[in-house]
Amino acid sequence: MSWITPLPQLAFGAGLAVLITGVAQAQMGESIERSTFGQLPDGRDVDLYRITNANGIEMRVTNYGGIIVSLRTLDAQGEFDDIVLGFDSLDGYLSDAYRKSNPYFGALIGRYGNRIAGGQFSLNGETYELATNNGPNHLHGGDKGFNRVLWQAKPFDNHEGAGLVLSYVSADGEEGYPGRLDVQVTYTLTDANELAIDYRATTSEATPVNLTQHTYFNLEGEGSGSILDHRLMINADAFTPVDETLIPTGEIRPVAGTPFDFREPTAIGARIDRGNRQLEFGQGYDHNFVLRRDSAAGDDPALAARVWEPDSGRVLEVATTESGLQFYSGNFLAGTLVGKSGESYKHRSGFALETQHFPDSPNQANFPSTILEPGETYRSRTVYTFSTRSREETGQ
Ligand code: BGC
Repeated sequence: MSWITPLPQLAFGAGLAVLITGVAQAQMGESIERSTFGQLPDGRDVDLYRITNANGIEMRVTNYGGIIVSLRTLDAQGEFDDIVLGFDSLDGYLSDAYRKSNPYFGALIGRYGNRIAGGQFSLNGETYELATNNGPNHLHGGDKGFNRVLWQAKPFDNHEGAGLVLSYVSADGEEGYPGRLDVQVTYTLTDANELAIDYRATTSEATPVNLTQHTYFNLEGEGSGSILDHRLMINADAFTPVDETLIPTGEIRPVAGTPFDFREPTAIGARIDRGNRQLEFGQGYDHNFVLRRDSAAGDDPALAARVWEPDSGRVLEVATTESGLQFYSGNFLAGTLVGKSGESYKHRSGFALETQHFPDSPNQANFPSTILEPGETYRSRTVYTFSTRSREETGQ
């Protein structure tokens, strides 16, 4: 269903519906405005929302795939840069070249983030067949995952911040999954320089659900080159090793003494090319980390990772209610896609920190369950916080 909110119904007070020249752009309040991003091949219009906070952080999100198209934050010198990979036009996300390399820039991922072995799982005595769209495996929800559907978007501006509620109804049987899944994802940009992402879903039948967000960051600015000098801390004592097709073996392996030990801040590139079977399989980091949960956090998001980029001084902190974090170091970026800055996105020029349950959980008895039952509500929250620290402040 294509959706356009009649502007007078939006609860943003007076002075709405100001038409800005040229493009169909409407002022929707101090901190959020909508414009047209393009049209899908079937003729449906796609919107772009520009959300800003009191400190000038600006995020642009489209209702196609819930994609975060851009995110401008301050560096330690007070300059803004766009720190996420992506394209300025819808066509960038629809092009053949993009679909062939399928990096899922900035998109919402569902029904199942990461891989399901052999595109198959059994549930309540039935075997379900899914698309094998990544070698022998199913990846990120299949041929037409949530990254490629049009979401309904509802902007809001409240005491917490400004943002968008994105809704999508995944029909019973869509991409081979059982049950009708009603999904809601809320992006909130706060004045405390946080981007909060709240996921909710309900289902009509038991089904696996593992939602995530696939933004690639480069804290020096998208298009500025390698991310290998970013210093990464991951709050995890263990990770889940994979086989050569990137399916977890089922083992939960301590990170101690391996290149997967990021408990102390370490440059992403420091050990990435070390002879290590796991790094060979991923062509770098492409692994799920088993997050350590600070018990004081209760049900609230707990610190999962922190990244500091020394030249810009930008810091990204990730907190989540999830048990896993997929750290992907952009190994499959191959310089074939040209992004917003006009630069091609080369090998390891962006990284993703995807908060989620563990890959292939529907086939792994010892992993926390990802099955959502009718009558239950799937809830998950991840908060990305943006700040800066200069080299002097960190003593490096
Ligand atoms: C996966 C990678 C994959 C990338 C883009 C990540 O979540 O772990 O293996 O290449 O998404 O599809």
